Amino acid sequence: MGPRAGRAVAALNSFELDTLLIPDARRRRLRGTVRRTVSKACARVGPSRGSHGPPGPPKLGFVATAEKYRRFGAESAGASPLYERLAIALSESEEALRAIDSLPARKRNPALVLAALNDLALAGRAPLLAAAYAAAEGEAAAAIDTLTRMPEAVAEIVVRRQVRADETGRGAVLRPLIAEAAQRAGAEAVGLIDVGCSAGFNLDVDRVGIAYGNGQTLGEASSPVQLSASVVGERPIPVAAMPAVVARVGIDANPVDVTDADEARWLRACLPPDQPERLAKLDAEIALAAKAPPVLLAGDALEALPDAFAHVPADALPVVTTTWALSRLSLEGRLRFLHRLDDVAAHRPLVWVSAEGVGVAPAIPTFGDRRASGHSILGVAVFHGAAAHVEAVGRCWSQGRLLAWLAG
Ligand SMILES: C[S@@+](CC[C@H](N)C(=O)[O-])C[C@H]1O[C@@H](n2cnc3c(N)ncnc32)[C@H](O)[C@@H]1O
Repeated sequence: MGPRAGRAVAALNSFELDTLLIPDARRRRLRGTVRRTVSKACARVGPSRGSHGPPGPPKLGFVATAEKYRRFGAESAGASPLYERLAIALSESEEALRAIDSLPARKRNPALVLAALNDLALAGRAPLLAAAYAAAEGEAAAAIDTLTRMPEAVAEIVVRRQVRADETGRGAVLRPLIAEAAQRAGAEAVGLIDVGCSAGFNLDVDRVGIAYGNGQTLGEASSPVQLSASVVGERPIPVAAMPAVVARVGIDANPVDVTDADEARWLRACLPPDQPERLAKLDAEIALAAKAPPVLLAGDALEALPDAFAHVPADALPVVTTTWALSRLSLEGRLRFLHRLDDVAAHRPLVWVSAEGVGVAPAIPTFGDRRASGHSILGVAVFHGAAAHVEAVGRCWSQGRLLAWLAG
């Protein structure tokens, strides 16, 4: 038996972000339109480095915002060359900085403002910007133009939205964890309860196909969602059969209903437009989730958990999943989460599987790894009556794109 979950103490950590594919022929056609409209926009907006004219150093009042955007640009270099250029162009445009500084102070961050601009483009409200993105030309001038011409539209979006992380691909770590946990608990049918579910992609874990770098494959080869992950080390990924999933319940303070077109578009808007592969993956996950949407419970995880268990039939094993979600709770909140599981276990067996930063998941051992090491620990906890068996079964990196299975 492992340590009793109720006595566990955990700690804090951070965790780890995020498009338009257009055929070449259409890209070429758009290019002409973009060239004409962009030069008009440039005339209106004025000079900015990287587009037209000499760089104009921002006025003093905008220095902090300019610096924030410059830094974001530098940090984006690897993930999105487009966002690197856009953020730097915005940091050098006095008009853009003025528009950004007119937004509420907590809503000026570059990822949010760029996502809002992208949302306007995707919604057809900023055709110039959409065309520039599609043609991969004149994007900076078009972004500045949109921001300075439509500040109210940008403000309306940023005040009600938060940047959504790219939450695709978690199935490569979750599937073996859930199958392993259900096998340990002797269950053939499970009800999934994903805490901090966001759009609920984790709840389709049994409907995806996975190819691991070591040649192993799991899941549905014909699924529109095909995931991949590299395997670190010699130990294979366990191939226990995935139990039947008879209930899917997501809990989130702010869940995303992917059957709502505006919500789904916002998920897309949070990806940089120059990342077509990531957008294609996201679209596939959205389509799969929309086919059989889960029950989404909006609210605090700790408050909503009892209701979530009520959605799992008595003859199915509740499987609680958390992936990079618990860091959003305080240490006390995480311990209360564990106690909630303990309470439910007094009435019915359940399992909890987790992929969380080192030391974030309460009671899950850490192999002695340092907190905030950048990787995450894969945990399996089986609760049965007064007993709980809690074990770390692996490590993963890049939110599951690389994993090492360590359990025997
Ligand atoms: C990092 S995000 C998404 C995590 C997602 N499971 C993943 O793998 O990326 C954390 C999610 O937790 C939600 N959240 C934060 N605090 C919460 C709380 N107290 N109760 C429920 N959900 C919460 C946020 O709305 C957000 O969708």
